[in-house]
Amino acid sequence: MAPLQVVVLLSFICLCKSDDHLTPAKPLAAGDKLVSDNGVFALGFFSPKNSTNDSYAGIWYNNIPERTYVWVANRDNPITKASPGKLVLTNNSDLVLSDSQGRALWTTMCNFTSGTTGTAAILLDSGNLVIRMPNGTDIWQSFHHPTDTILPGMPLPLSANDDLYTRLVAWRGPDDPATSDYSMGGDPSSDLQVVIWNGTRPYWRRSAWNGELVTASYQGSTGFIMTLRIVYRGDKLYMTFPVSDDSPSMRMVLHYTGVFRFLAWNSNSSSWEVFTEQPSPSCDQYAYCGPFGYCDATETVPKCNCLSGFVPDGVNFSRGCRIKEDLKCGGGDNFLTFRGMKIPDKFVYVRNRGIDQCRAECSRNCNCTAYAYANLQNGSTSDDVSRCLIWLGELVDTGKFRDGENLYLRLASSTVAKESNVLKIALPVIATGILILTCVSLVFWICKSRGKRRIKKIKNKYTRQHSKNSKSNELENESIELPYICFEDVVIATDNFSDCNMLGRGGFGKVYKGRLEGVNEVAVKRLSKNSGQGADEFRNEVVLIAKLQHRSLVRLLGYCTHEDEKLLIYECLPNKSLDAFLFDATRNFVLDWPTRFKVIKGIARGLLYLHQDSGLTIIHRDLKASNVLLDAEMNPKISDFGMARIFGGNEQQVNTIRVVGTYRYMSPEYAMEGSFSVKSDTYSFGVLLLEIVSGLKISSSHLTKDFPSLVAYAWSLWKDGNARELVDSSITEICPLHEVLRCIQLSLLCVQDDPSARPLMSSTVFMLENETAPLPTPKEPVYFRQRKYEVEDQRHDYDLEMSLNGMTMTMEEGR
Ligand SMILES: *[C@@H]1O[C@H](CO)[C@@H](O)[C@H](O)[C@H]1NC(C)=O
Ligand SMILES: *[C@@H]1O[C@H](CO)[C@@H](O)[C@H](O)[C@H]1NC(C)=O
Ligand SMILES: *[C@@H]1O[C@H](CO)[C@@H](O)[C@H](O)[C@H]1NC(C)=O
Ligand SMILES: *[C@@H]1O[C@H](CO)[C@@H](O)[C@H](O)[C@H]1NC(C)=O
Ligand SMILES: *[C@@H]1O[C@H](CO)[C@@H](O)[C@H](O)[C@H]1NC(C)=O
Ligand SMILES: *[C@@H]1O[C@H](CO)[C@@H](O)[C@H](O)[C@H]1NC(C)=O
Ligand SMILES: *[C@@H]1O[C@H](CO)[C@@H](O)[C@H](O)[C@H]1NC(C)=O
Ligand SMILES: *[C@@H]1O[C@H](CO)[C@@H](O)[C@H](O)[C@H]1NC(C)=O
Ligand SMILES: *[C@@H]1O[C@H](CO)[C@@H](O)[C@H](O)[C@H]1NC(C)=O
Ligand SMILES: *[C@@H]1O[C@H](CO)[C@@H](O)[C@H](O)[C@H]1NC(C)=O
Repeated sequence: MAPLQVVVLLSFICLCKSDDHLTPAKPLAAGDKLVSDNGVFALGFFSPKNSTNDSYAGIWYNNIPERTYVWVANRDNPITKASPGKLVLTNNSDLVLSDSQGRALWTTMCNFTSGTTGTAAILLDSGNLVIRMPNGTDIWQSFHHPTDTILPGMPLPLSANDDLYTRLVAWRGPDDPATSDYSMGGDPSSDLQVVIWNGTRPYWRRSAWNGELVTASYQGSTGFIMTLRIVYRGDKLYMTFPVSDDSPSMRMVLHYTGVFRFLAWNSNSSSWEVFTEQPSPSCDQYAYCGPFGYCDATETVPKCNCLSGFVPDGVNFSRGCRIKEDLKCGGGDNFLTFRGMKIPDKFVYVRNRGIDQCRAECSRNCNCTAYAYANLQNGSTSDDVSRCLIWLGELVDTGKFRDGENLYLRLASSTVAKESNVLKIALPVIATGILILTCVSLVFWICKSRGKRRIKKIKNKYTRQHSKNSKSNELENESIELPYICFEDVVIATDNFSDCNMLGRGGFGKVYKGRLEGVNEVAVKRLSKNSGQGADEFRNEVVLIAKLQHRSLVRLLGYCTHEDEKLLIYECLPNKSLDAFLFDATRNFVLDWPTRFKVIKGIARGLLYLHQDSGLTIIHRDLKASNVLLDAEMNPKISDFGMARIFGGNEQQVNTIRVVGTYRYMSPEYAMEGSFSVKSDTYSFGVLLLEIVSGLKISSSHLTKDFPSLVAYAWSLWKDGNARELVDSSITEICPLHEVLRCIQLSLLCVQDDPSARPLMSSTVFMLENETAPLPTPKEPVYFRQRKYEVEDQRHDYDLEMSLNGMTMTMEEGR
């Protein structure tokens, strides 16, 4: 055949086959494909990469370069190479896939015999293959018979007893569409939840439906939104995944590893991006934390805990938790409320019970361990809108997450009395990573726009008091406009400063998580009323931070005063402070070397900004691990400017009679003589750097017992060429040694006794960012080694591990 004829023939084939209809008169043969109206999806035959002998009929994205199959017809019955297949719509409206010997490999089995003329199989742009009657009724849809993929618009039933839909079943391998052991679908025992099974064992479970119609929503990188909605059709519940109009191609797939993934096509990188998956690679797996244990997903690093009133049964959670005090039954028990829970599995659904009746149902059954109640009014079509669940026995697969519901746990009354206090401290609610998207800014505008008149200007009275020290303070008489947030709103936001919302304590008071207007998360710093020292620090901090904008500094969003209450409203940072990771053996693995190095550089840049780049000279005076907060990407944010000082233009050094700060982070000249300069911050930075590299607290005597301090210990190792021994064992193996060693040497430069020998932050940043920049040789820090002091530091209730044998130091309070 001449080449020209081949071309003509091929284009002829293409013309007549690139259609979205399959009719009895026009079957689909090997090499043909059906393309949906707008060219989004294609139906045809394919062979997976590694199985060249087998082929399948399936649907894939027609306009995405990476071949991605969303549906496969004959997944367990491949067409062999020797005998090519053909997909036919029969006269009784069935799709039949058969091989060349006429053997049926797959069929739809509708067997719809009447009124068949004009029926066609149509591939829609949604990816749905339907068999459509001439009057428009679809008698079969591939969306009702999914393989491993859900597309937007395709429902997933919460009920297992659905004769229309079948479960998702994962592929057996990356190139093998055969059915595997992993499947996903409605839970047959309740019709209220979706489960992923590994064979017959549950592998993951979504919490039982609680009546909310939108159960989750996700935002993609380009701003599109995908939501998980629950809809009632007839008397059955379905989960659907609608997306906003601007969304790229999306699919939800039960991956061959058993993980349910949400993917979006990124046309820039030409790849599928996973934007969430379940179970997440933590304690999210089914019953991972054992009976009466729960997985706390509100922590940055989710981990197992015991429900209050229970203690771990064994060293880890493989056997879960056991009760501390046995139930009394007969009136001796009470219920403890857990908020924000993924309620356990294996419940009994008691119909027609209001919330009080639900509680009574549990109370009167001595085997009942917990109950949970929800109102299904918006979804249910039946008269019974109650959803009373009770548990008779072990509580398995419990979790804690944002947007969870209340679980009422039965415990002996005496335990409830004790735990209801402990609980509040034991379960601080911490924002998850996703939150960072929503938590910044906006918040205070709500309050602000409600009453613009409330916005006040803050006069910087602070500077007057200290003008003897800082002669030409640039903030003198300057007023800063910063959103004023009304006290009532803060009270509401923090649930009247409920202990549940407490994130931690700082030197001047407590920090609470808040949710202004129920939309955004903020951190509220409440200065303690009786500190007697807060007023100046307060003004100081407000005025200072309002001026400062740097990505390594925490952002102040607003402030509030009310009688003697003083409150600062900050952006919320989901990850707490650096010390919470660095010195916690269960969490420090999060801080791998690249992360630590990023944190070090971030802090250095933040300090440089304070010292120089902000146009002011601001000395923080209290830099330490607990004052470095981490955002969701583990970027450091320097916080707590309560003790920061602004220097005038020509000032180099100031003496104060009031030494504030945290003893072991203080430079010798400051601790001893009250003299401070930018180099005092350099010293604190050096100490912090040593802590980050070693994972050791400056105040701990562990490992450094033969040495008066971590600084002396580090010096000794470095001097003998053994600096690598200082490196935190959790990072030793994988870190680039030269980088770590440079950091150790740099830290020793920063903690030298002579302030003039310490580098400025500008050189520090330079040395950190340029691997080849030469590092001077540090001198031995001897000051703290020779002198012995005892510390009396009332200001820092949280940093009291400072009393070394016989050391004495008195700090004068100058006001
Ligand atoms: C597919 O085959 C290639 C080459 O034979 C092999 O390297 C690859 O691991 C295979 N992939 C899978 C998923 O089996
Ligand atoms: C494909 O078939 C050929 C011939 O039957 C056989 O030699 C080869 O191993 C088969 N390949 C695979 C991947 O099964
Ligand atoms: C379907 O019906 C048409 C006309 O009624 C007939 O010609 C054709 O052979 C039938 N096809 C099959 C597969 O039975
Ligand atoms: C379809 O229905 C006809 C008549 O009702 C019956 O004879 C035939 O066996 C059925 N075919 C299938 C595949 O169920
Ligand atoms: C279309 O026809 C089928 C069978 O004839 C019938 O069951 C169905 O109700 C009809 N649908 C509409 C919308 O008329
Ligand atoms: C699924 O079950 C199999 C066999 O019981 C087991 O080997 C496998 O590890 C399980 N998969 C997961 C992800 O737990
Ligand atoms: C692709 O790149 C453009 C320009 O850089 C950007 O606006 C767009 O958001 C990117 N799209 C995705 C999906 O990342
Ligand atoms: C938990 O402890 C048991 C025995 O103490 C051990 O066999 C098991 O591997 C441990 N599991 C985990 C996840 O560490
Ligand atoms: C409580 O559990 C025990 C043992 O499992 C059982 O024999 C008893 O009938 C149960 N009582 C109730 C009220 O369900
Ligand atoms: C039901 O819907 C109404 C309005 O859509 C809403 O205000 C109410 O909170 C919903 N109730 C529940 C239980 O979700």
